[in-house]
Amino acid sequence: MARLDGYAALITGGGKGIGRAVVDRFVAEGARVCVLVRSQTDVDSLAEQHGDKVVCVIGDVRNWADNVAAVQAVVAAFGKLDVLVPNAGVYDFSDTFESIDGAEMSERYRQLFDVNVLGYLLAARAAVDALRESNGSIVFTLSSSSFYAGGGGTLYVSSKHALAGTVKQLAYELAPEIRVNAVAPGGTRTGLGGLAGDNRALADIEGFEDMVARNVPLGFLSEPEDHAGLYVTLASREDSRFVTSEIIRSDGGIEVRGRRRKKKVEQ
Ligand SMILES: NC(=O)c1ccc[n+]([C@@H]2O[C@H](COP(=O)([O-])OP(=O)(O)OC[C@H]3O[C@@H](n4cnc5c(N)ncnc54)[C@H](O)[C@@H]3O)[C@@H](O)[C@H]2O)c1
Repeated sequence: MARLDGYAALITGGGKGIGRAVVDRFVAEGARVCVLVRSQTDVDSLAEQHGDKVVCVIGDVRNWADNVAAVQAVVAAFGKLDVLVPNAGVYDFSDTFESIDGAEMSERYRQLFDVNVLGYLLAARAAVDALRESNGSIVFTLSSSSFYAGGGGTLYVSSKHALAGTVKQLAYELAPEIRVNAVAPGGTRTGLGGLAGDNRALADIEGFEDMVARNVPLGFLSEPEDHAGLYVTLASREDSRFVTSEIIRSDGGIEVRGRRRKKKVEQ
């Protein structure tokens, strides 16, 4: 039997990247999924691959009404909500603190925190009643930047650290009906984008793959699919019934800082 047979899920930013890998895996595990996306292109691509196993809502995670609409859509289509995956995010491309003009700080802060932090809070708030009814769970996408410096600039790293606190506080407040956990990926090959007007994409950064590979013991840049099974494990009541406030790191072992240099054996 598939591990999420009969589950209904809502995933934000699931048109591409890590969110898309979670959608694809959830469907493969028997779930029905509502995806909050930004564009018709994402809707078309999800519909082509998954047909009526997936419904989409076009919206913006910064907008309360769009989050409410997404929860209503999953309940209307599939009768309930078992799992929420707040995942939509933007990056700051490691812009250093001092490179940001003080006069621009508020605007940049608002743009980044509104998506990365407020977007998660609004999704969780909109979903609470439906999740309580189903004894469901939330699985946030965090990041190695929820624990360490250097994987982004100050704005990105502080936003992802804020989410680690959000997981703990919500796990505390929403228990025992709703479990709250997270997956924290490290460097992953995606098109993660930046703030308004910034057309860069993470995987296009020169040297990104080598830099990630050099910095983790497992020695490679991960693919979105590498993380998806962990979301399944945390979403599954059967596998994670006693698990809340847990953040599973899927980051190649970055904690141990760098790749071991093997000594050449002298003949
Ligand atoms: N790629 C990495 O190396 C990496 C590592 C750790 C964590 N993450 C996190 O993973 C999550 C997914 O990112 P990804 O790497 O898959 O990149 P991605 O760009 O493929 O996915 C991000 C998604 O968020 C959506 N999005 C952005 N702003 C939005 C908004 N205002 N409203 C609705 N949707 C919006 C985008 O359309 C996109 O589908 C992000 O939270 C990111 O911070 C990424």
